[in-house]
Amino acid sequence: MIVAIDGPAGAGKSTVARALAERLGFRYLDTGAMYRALTWLAMRRGLDLGGGEALAELARTEPVTFDKEGRVWIAGTDVTSSIRDTRIDRMVPVVARHTPVREVMRERQRLLGNEGDVVIEGRDIGTVVAPGAEVKVYLVANRNERAKRRMADRPGIGADALATDLRARDEKDAERMQPAEDAQKIDTTDLRVEDVVERIEQLVRARSAA
Ligand code: DC
Repeated sequence: MIVAIDGPAGAGKSTVARALAERLGFRYLDTGAMYRALTWLAMRRGLDLGGGEALAELARTEPVTFDKEGRVWIAGTDVTSSIRDTRIDRMVPVVARHTPVREVMRERQRLLGNEGDVVIEGRDIGTVVAPGAEVKVYLVANRNERAKRRMADRPGIGADALATDLRARDEKDAERMQPAEDAQKIDTTDLRVEDVVERIEQLVRARSAA
């Protein structure tokens, strides 16, 4: 079974998806980490982030991998922490908007999501990567709450800068952020992680029973 979890930055996707996967004994695939790792490598190699074809070629030749502990690797380097840097936050939408890059990434995401039961989180999972996913959820939260959550993840950066970054990223990500028509929308603003996980778990159980 595929459980697709989409939504904007700070809506709670990673925390919820990870906890849900653990609870259900499903694998967990973080597609945002793949775009982040590619951005990290492109910057490290000094590539022009405006060149979609060259970036897609890089994505093809240096595929992102996840090890058993869920650590993220690219080109022989463990980038698990470096990809959460604010520099990457800012540049990743520039890389992710190129169609050739998305084609390579989506193909690889389908491959990685292909085996067994999996929770996949991203922006376009329910719409493009896995439109046949058995359970689709679209998480939202108001911008204040999302900025607050980001602040907890990024202690080095001030509240104003974070809110500005979040707004800029929302705008850049907007074209890929449409919920699938058959996705269940959950507003996580006032919910605890456990409650969100519980709700999705119920959807999974209902689907399994059907
Ligand atoms: O969820 P995240 O913040 O780790 O995502 C990082 C960036 O990658 C974000 O700016 C949007 C982009 N992204 C995407 O375009 N498609 C996905 N399936 C996942 C992430």
